[in-house]
Amino acid sequence: MGSQNTIDEALSSYDRINDLKAFDEEKTGVKGLVDAETEGIPSIFVRSSKDRSKDFETCDENLSVPIIDIGQVGQSNDRTAEIVKEIFSASKEWGFFQVVNHGIPLNLLKKTIDGTRMFHEQDAETKKEYYSRDFQSKRVMYYSNHDLFNSNAANWRDSLYVNTLHTAGEIDPQELPPICKDVILEYVNHILKFGDHILMLLSMGLGLDPEHLGNLAKGKKGWSFINHYYPACPEPELTLGINGHADNSFITILLQDQIGGLQILHQNKWVNITPVSSALIVNFGNILQIITNDVLKSVYHRVIAKSVGPRTSVAFFFRGNFSSKKIYGPIKELTSKENPPIYRDFTIEEITTYFFSKSLGEFGTDHFKLQHPRDGN
Ligand code: OGA
Ligand code: NI
Repeated sequence: MGSQNTIDEALSSYDRINDLKAFDEEKTGVKGLVDAETEGIPSIFVRSSKDRSKDFETCDENLSVPIIDIGQVGQSNDRTAEIVKEIFSASKEWGFFQVVNHGIPLNLLKKTIDGTRMFHEQDAETKKEYYSRDFQSKRVMYYSNHDLFNSNAANWRDSLYVNTLHTAGEIDPQELPPICKDVILEYVNHILKFGDHILMLLSMGLGLDPEHLGNLAKGKKGWSFINHYYPACPEPELTLGINGHADNSFITILLQDQIGGLQILHQNKWVNITPVSSALIVNFGNILQIITNDVLKSVYHRVIAKSVGPRTSVAFFFRGNFSSKKIYGPIKELTSKENPPIYRDFTIEEITTYFFSKSLGEFGTDHFKLQHPRDGN
């Protein structure tokens, strides 16, 4: 691809739907393009200059989100209170933080990154068997861009998805790819406990019963594990690894390798989340923002494409149970006459269906605002 004008011309003249279908039918994702040594990046991945002109600037390299040591929670009440305060202030100011001394063995973090990377790097024919877009009924699948046919530009990444929203957190180990089965099971076990722990500290920070958020979000009632694989990109400035978005979750726990590229939007500038090998990253999704009536906000984030790679990450979403008829809305204890609910009630099925009907960047909380005119979805 050449100058700006040539790029926009090329983008206006190709048959996008046809190219998307052809890419999808290969079932080998972005990794397949890289393996085929395709020159440059195909048009389906190129963002238009109009989209790129709306980008925010990147911030001072030295600015970073807080790193919180939770090692001594429970050992003395004083230290627990201090950590609750630290987490709560990081939550209010940043909505994203890194946690160290979380109790999860560091070699398990490394094994999780290595094991899931191997899924993408195994033989294409084995991997193809998992390729699907059936987000409703498949529990384990692999694909490139869940919103491939809804977005303006595809992202430079492939994903492995394990979804228990319909099975109340249960997973049949036999369905997992043999190459990373054991490591996923072990990681999920630890992360469910870690997530409950974070939800407890957040509940305390909000002045709620320590079990409050945990009971609402309890990981065992529905979670998704998504492992992303971002191959090195020959033209990183023309595309993104994952475009700016907010998560569909109560909370998200993210594990990343050492390549870097994750950024959050903070005071209208992109701030890098610098890799810390012993840390897990915590951020809030739209469900938490709605039920806390905007006290804890979901923060917009993205991953830039890079000429180095591959980058591997694992995002674990506490999402709730799709089949449960439970009604969610702003928590009563967090609203009052002076601070009335901003959002209406909804079910996990409704918010999840809404999420899958939109492109990633369009999934927002406005749709659930009481004052919001219905937009037909
Ligand atoms: C996500 C996400 C970031 C990453 O899956 O929602 O933001 O580092 N992932 O892969
Ligand atoms: Ni995200």
